[in-house]
Amino acid sequence: MKKILILGGIREAAELARQLVDEGDDVTTSLAGRTKNPDKVPGKVRIGGFGGVEGLARHLEENAIDLLIDCTHPFARNISANARQAASLAGTQLRVVERPPWQEQPGDCWHKVSSLEQACKAIPAGACVLLALGSQHIASFQTRRDVHFIVRMVDAPSTPLPLPDHELVLGKPAIDPEQERALLTNKKITHIVCRNSGGKGAYAKISAARDLGLPVIMIER
Ligand SMILES: NC(=O)c1ccc[n+]([C@@H]2O[C@H](COP(=O)([O-])OP(=O)(O)OC[C@H]3O[C@@H](n4cnc5c(N)ncnc54)[C@H](OP(=O)(O)O)[C@@H]3O)[C@@H](O)[C@H]2O)c1
Repeated sequence: MKKILILGGIREAAELARQLVDEGDDVTTSLAGRTKNPDKVPGKVRIGGFGGVEGLARHLEENAIDLLIDCTHPFARNISANARQAASLAGTQLRVVERPPWQEQPGDCWHKVSSLEQACKAIPAGACVLLALGSQHIASFQTRRDVHFIVRMVDAPSTPLPLPDHELVLGKPAIDPEQERALLTNKKITHIVCRNSGGKGAYAKISAARDLGLPVIMIER
């Protein structure tokens, strides 16, 4: 039986935990603690940062972890860098689970950009935008007084969002493209701004946008 620590926080990490628990391994999933009510994950769960590279390396040694698996979100870069260094310091085996980016399909109308700043500039005046980004990225759009933003977040923000014209939609993205289509239509959304996260959990909005012929301002990796 291997002692495994999964750095998680995404749907695929929970699926991996299920598989490894079923195979008989001793699995702990680590979550950053960003969401108030995270989905249940098979095996054990620990929550909160480790305190940088040294903290993670110490955790690996003190808990005699045989295998560290980095299955974090592709845009969560700090924890992945920490995982590489900490595994090396502690002499722990590291496995990195890559989540391939989504590929543009026939019918998609993607405007690809490489930063939040470029995404902000790419929005036409008067647009109604579904902003499907983490709360820490919203401030990049505060200069756009000429745009109505629909901001989707898992938990309500603790302080008011710095956007002049916006409304909040609370909850996780739907898995069913029909539900995402209903949101896009009911809110009269003209554009989506999101990052190319890959994976299944957030893809329904992309296929719904394709069905409706809506442009997606896609922040690439
Ligand atoms: N970025 C996204 O868009 C996104 C989307 C969905 C889910 N997530 C999940 O949310 C977490 C945080 O994302 P982020 O972009 O803020 O990450 P980040 O910038 O790479 O990490 C910032 C700090 O948060 C702590 N941390 C991050 N992931 C952790 C984990 N799984 N377990 C324990 N501590 C963790 C670490 O603190 P210490 O240095 O103190 O250890 C890390 O240095 C990630 O685990 C990711 O898988 C992120």
